[in-house]
Amino acid sequence: MSKFIANYSELVQYQHINAAGSLFGGYMLAWLDLAAGKAANRFIKDTEAYTAVTRAMDKVEFKEPVFLGDWVNCEAKVIDAGNSSIEISVSAFAESKRHGKRLACTANFTFVTVIKNDQGEFLKYNHNVSLD
Ligand SMILES: CC(C)(COP(=O)(O)OP(=O)(O)OC[C@H]1O[C@@H](n2cnc3c(N)ncnc32)[C@H](O)[C@@H]1OP(=O)(O)O)[C@@H](O)C(=O)NCCC(=O)NCCS
Repeated sequence: MSKFIANYSELVQYQHINAAGSLFGGYMLAWLDLAAGKAANRFIKDTEAYTAVTRAMDKVEFKEPVFLGDWVNCEAKVIDAGNSSIEISVSAFAESKRHGKRLACTANFTFVTVIKNDQGEFLKYNHNVSLD
């Protein structure tokens, strides 16, 4: 089991609701991305890197609708690492007294570890961190 995990939670409020009366998926993607970023930055915390940035997002599945007043609890886990890349799997569980707890959304992310050059541009950086 990966030791690089992170949790991130949000409460679904009125501004997050779409015309169908459920959570707008774009907010869910942002919350998954933040959870993945938290796990990625834990993974590289002992390196000289500036940060890790989102390079790709795939296998996104919206499995269950999420409603006003639900908590969305995202669980992110580093599942693989390359030279500069970090693969993270994220599961989002919706939870409320009214609707119970259910797996609402899953996705995989690729983050890339970066440094900044003198012009402020990101350059990929070999993090030399393994999952062991
Ligand atoms: C991140 C960035 C610096 C990478 O630059 P780059 O030099 O072109 O990097 P590469 O194409 O060589 O890819 C870097 C790594 O990502 C991997 N990668 C690239 N595209 C990928 C994809 N679509 N899916 C999965 N992995 C991918 C590469 O295999 C490589 O992995 P490795 O170093 O572990 O072997 C650049 O793409 C960038 O700045 N992107 C924008 C980031 C951003 O603004 N994100 C949103 C806000 S956080």
